Amino acid sequence: MRDKLELLEKRRAESEQGGGEERVKAQHAKGKLSARERIDLLVDSGTFVETDRFVTHRSTDFGLDKLKVYGDGVVTGHGRIDGRLVYLFSQDFTVFGGSLSEAFAEKICKVMDLAVRNGAPVIGLNDSGGARIQEGVVSLGGYAEIFLRNTLASGVVPQISAILGPCAGGAVYSPAITDFTFMVRGTSYMFVTGPNVVKTVTHEDVTMEQLGGADTHAGTSGVAHCAFDSEPACIQAIRDIFRFLPSNNVSDPPRGPATDPRDRRDEALLDIVPDNPNKPYDMHEVLRRVVDGGEFFEIQPDYAGNIICGFAHLGTYSVGIVANQPAVLAGVLDINASIKAARFIRFCDAFNIPVVTFEDVPGFLPGISQEHGGIIKHGAKLLYAYCEATVPKLTVITRKAYGGAYDVMSSKHIRGDYNVAWPTAEIAVMGPKGAVEILFRKEISESDDAAKATEARIEEYREKFAHPYIAAGRGYLDDIIDPRETRPRLIDALETLETKRDKNPPKKHGNIPL
Ligand code: HXC
Repeated sequence: MRDKLELLEKRRAESEQGGGEERVKAQHAKGKLSARERIDLLVDSGTFVETDRFVTHRSTDFGLDKLKVYGDGVVTGHGRIDGRLVYLFSQDFTVFGGSLSEAFAEKICKVMDLAVRNGAPVIGLNDSGGARIQEGVVSLGGYAEIFLRNTLASGVVPQISAILGPCAGGAVYSPAITDFTFMVRGTSYMFVTGPNVVKTVTHEDVTMEQLGGADTHAGTSGVAHCAFDSEPACIQAIRDIFRFLPSNNVSDPPRGPATDPRDRRDEALLDIVPDNPNKPYDMHEVLRRVVDGGEFFEIQPDYAGNIICGFAHLGTYSVGIVANQPAVLAGVLDINASIKAARFIRFCDAFNIPVVTFEDVPGFLPGISQEHGGIIKHGAKLLYAYCEATVPKLTVITRKAYGGAYDVMSSKHIRGDYNVAWPTAEIAVMGPKGAVEILFRKEISESDDAAKATEARIEEYREKFAHPYIAAGRGYLDDIIDPRETRPRLIDALETLETKRDKNPPKKHGNIPL
């Protein structure tokens, strides 16, 4: 036995060498960690249990039969984050450039299958040259097996991707299907075709970073949800987000620490909304003052800043927050904001996370580019996501709730469970100026002093409509509240909704306007 154990130890040690010292050094020189160093940062110390460390590829072409490395370029297994089970794979660029072989794909599929069967999240650490060229279509088949599993696992267990190196070609579609994609500035990139192909096809000159770097995807394309300055920061963020996520779609999200009093009233909430309805304010300030400990994990902070999405704890409940941001484009809903929030709401709904909406929205953004870009279809995504969501839905209207955006933003009519407004709320078909220009165009054009006539009508309209009392009178709002009471009111509502049961009609699946 002892000599056999010795052999086992030797082979285990060998399997941990990856592509060898030199290649690990080269990896470090690029500012990147090794596959195993990343896992050490990701999971609770000492909890990683490796699967398939002795797997090797089965290729014989191009001399590959003489070039076998234990693990074949991907480290797979399970570990714990804050004591909770997660499955993971970590691609090892030091072995065949982290390229994906048949065996490599089988290892990933195995942990994904285990994750779904055991109801635990999957985390993918990506750093790969893509399909292993020597294996041809077998490698492509491997990718397809992973894509299928990503799709089937969607809405069953949370899936998170970190892009920590190259991720190119069809390989990008695995992270794209997962729930959240995090990237690192300067060392990670994603694109369907790289700069050389772009140059050949469209004659455009572009660097890798410009084409598919972290800032590009976190700020311009919206493919990535967050960008970080370093790998440790990126990996820590994966640990952090798990404080809000359940392990699967039939378990409850984790509760936060009960350190912030549930009945805390915040005086400063009285002074955040300016008296002038055309003046902006930072909705983050409202959120920070309402949620537990002011802690907010923002999703896509650098994309479509006119809407804010993110996770927080509220009275220890994990909640997804969607908030219009008056400080960016007056909080208007445009294509990007609609898509961003719709996907976030669908994630929350799939994973039993209540959605809390803070509303201050002047409407949908007008313009040719928005109309031609399909704001109708994209805005409908947001409406659809809110309508189909059966998790608890809470809404606080802080100021404007105009037009279709009033309906969309979790209104009572689309199954909002608890809808309240601050006394500063203005709820109407449109803002006073727009309304007056339509209703009184003739009267104003015929008057001696158009500006004065307009102002008088605006004032009249404002008095009639620019407040929350008509909506409250109809029962479209459950109450008009003192802003200082926002936190205790929302927590009370969350408590009452803990046992909420609601269902959509049985169907194979809906047809969200994609
Ligand atoms: C096999 C690969 C490989 C691949 C890299 N290597 N990519 N081996 N298949 N796809 C090997 C290299 O030969 C090299 O081996 C080692 O990994 C490190 O690669 P380098 O090129 O030295 O590293 P670097 O200079 O950092 O460049 C990294 C890279 C480049 C930009 C990723 O390797 C590259 O362009 N690779 C090919 C990328 C690609 O076109 N993949 C196919 C995409 S299409 P040695 O032994 O020399 O050190 C795709 C389709 C997926 O993936 C389809 C899904 C549907």
